[in-house]
Amino acid sequence: MKPRDRLRIAMQKSGRLTEPALDVLKRCGLTFRQSRDKLFCFGEGEPVDLLLVRDDDIPGLIAQGVCDLGIVGRNVLDEFKGVAGDAAAALTEWRPLGFGRCRLSIAVPQDVDYTVPKDLDGLRIATSYPGLLGQWLRRNEVDAAVVTLAGSVEIAPKLGTADAICDLVQSGGTLVANQLRETDVLLQSEAVLAGPDTLPTDERGDMIELLLKRLDGVIQVRE
Ligand code: PRP
Ligand code: ZN
Ligand code: MG
Repeated sequence: MKPRDRLRIAMQKSGRLTEPALDVLKRCGLTFRQSRDKLFCFGEGEPVDLLLVRDDDIPGLIAQGVCDLGIVGRNVLDEFKGVAGDAAAALTEWRPLGFGRCRLSIAVPQDVDYTVPKDLDGLRIATSYPGLLGQWLRRNEVDAAVVTLAGSVEIAPKLGTADAICDLVQSGGTLVANQLRETDVLLQSEAVLAGPDTLPTDERGDMIELLLKRLDGVIQVRE
């Protein structure tokens, strides 16, 4: 890959993390020549550019070295680390960012009896997080079938394609709307600054250190 002298940060193109992520970067003194429909935003002051992508692609872009840092949900990062193996092991959560808080939970139809994870034995669980769900099932010695869906997971029980789900919960509104009851929390998540666990030794490494310092100031001011 061609060496780069400008830092490249990946973030969600459109979604719940987009506005607060742009806001935190702005507070760190980073501004971009912004055209929202473009995937690439050139940084105006500092040598830092933005790549606007699907959140699920962010850990992979960092692992491949296409981007130096990413703002992404812990859920997405941990799922990637769980399923991608070695290449992903070197990815680290540099800072929690305090926004985009949600949890990854198991939920069952409201009329289903459920008290302990073992009650899921022999059932089908729909999720977009097969890695994290698989870990939890193994830890709890539950023998369930994992049905991997890219989205609209909450509708699966009603459609009869799964008996339970494992998905993100923020307000709980989606669960209520689909007559589902949250039973277990697998992961508490929020947006994090993710990157390789060793910093590049060139100017980009210095820029990351500067950015982390500014970020610590920004996060402190917020608390
Ligand atoms: C997430 C998640 C749930 C919903 C939970 O989906 O997958 O569906 O939010 O939020 P709530 O508890 O506040 O209702 P989102 O709409 O972000 O998008 P996606 O599922 O298409 O990724
Ligand atoms: Zn997503
Ligand atoms: Mg959803």
